[in-house]
Amino acid sequence: MKWAARAPANIALVKYMGKCDARLNLPANASLSMTLDSLCTVVELREAAATRWVAAAPSASVSGRELRVPALDAAGAAKFEKHLARVISEAPGILSQFGLRMRAVGEVEIRSANTFPAASGIASSASAFAALTLAGAQACAADLDAFAAAWEGRPEFRRAWARVARQGSGSACRSLEGPWVRWVDTDAAAVSSRLPAYVDLVLLVASGKKAVSSTDAHAAVVASPLWAGRVERANARVAELSAALAAGDASVVAQVAWTELWEMHSLFHTSPQPFTYWLPLSLEILQWLKPLVEGPGAPVVTMDAGPNVHLLVPATDAAQWRARVAERFPGLLVLEDRAGGGAATAVS
Ligand code: DP6
Repeated sequence: MKWAARAPANIALVKYMGKCDARLNLPANASLSMTLDSLCTVVELREAAATRWVAAAPSASVSGRELRVPALDAAGAAKFEKHLARVISEAPGILSQFGLRMRAVGEVEIRSANTFPAASGIASSASAFAALTLAGAQACAADLDAFAAAWEGRPEFRRAWARVARQGSGSACRSLEGPWVRWVDTDAAAVSSRLPAYVDLVLLVASGKKAVSSTDAHAAVVASPLWAGRVERANARVAELSAALAAGDASVVAQVAWTELWEMHSLFHTSPQPFTYWLPLSLEILQWLKPLVEGPGAPVVTMDAGPNVHLLVPATDAAQWRARVAERFPGLLVLEDRAGGGAATAVS
């Protein structure tokens, strides 16, 4: 038997940065993100002699995207294997709560691949742990049709699994639904939006492995003098952003994301051992965008714990924005993906 799932990356406009419980990945503050679509991870589980991650391609495909097997080190593979064990141990409780029957899971080989290049600066932990959670959950279900019906039809079922995904990597809990997802404490759930369909244009400033992992950044920022009041400010921004999405007020969305970007990176810059993800080109792009963010038809600009700049714009304006970027920064690589609905079972 084989079970496969795919889950997209997500890009936060108000960030999860700082934890109040590092073991459970409980966030210090609420966050809100846009779920992507085909920039994703595919995970496949196959019955095998031993449970371990193997560097081999899954057989499921993602149309229009090349799949690349990541180069996981031993610690990365062990974290993945541990998460599968967590999914299997949580399954009886969740499946029975939703009236689904459990099957015993034997040893399985874990295969995974991303549609984005390993060094693209797209964080793969959210998509990877979300896809592994769904693949593992399916493997525990005796009736796959009943499982699929619950996954598609009962939001609370996905949300129960999102709580499990979070324990693998916090931001993974926002990749199970879409297109806009708010995460507060233990719970992540889609929020309503009147915005038109958006796309994410990822301006690829650099693509090397980052010097400070986001897990280390979470630990560092709480010692910044700017941490005082951070939780309240971020939570207030999530409330403002939720209201702006519901009202379809794109300029407020753009303002909130812009302020939040500078604040999160200021936390990095003011931690006791200051560090930065910015490169000269990141700053040049931000300086170019500043008057555009303040003007009409503002793009939503954000950056994760990395040097790349994300421009979120209505899908209908994407070609025009790509042309503007190409004119100002000739040769700069841009990855594009639209907003999507979250993790899904994958067919081989
Ligand atoms: C900057 O979810 O990667 O992307 O829970 O330690 O795995 P762990 O951290 P992770 O942190 C993501 C941080 C961020 C902001 C965000 O996505 O909200």
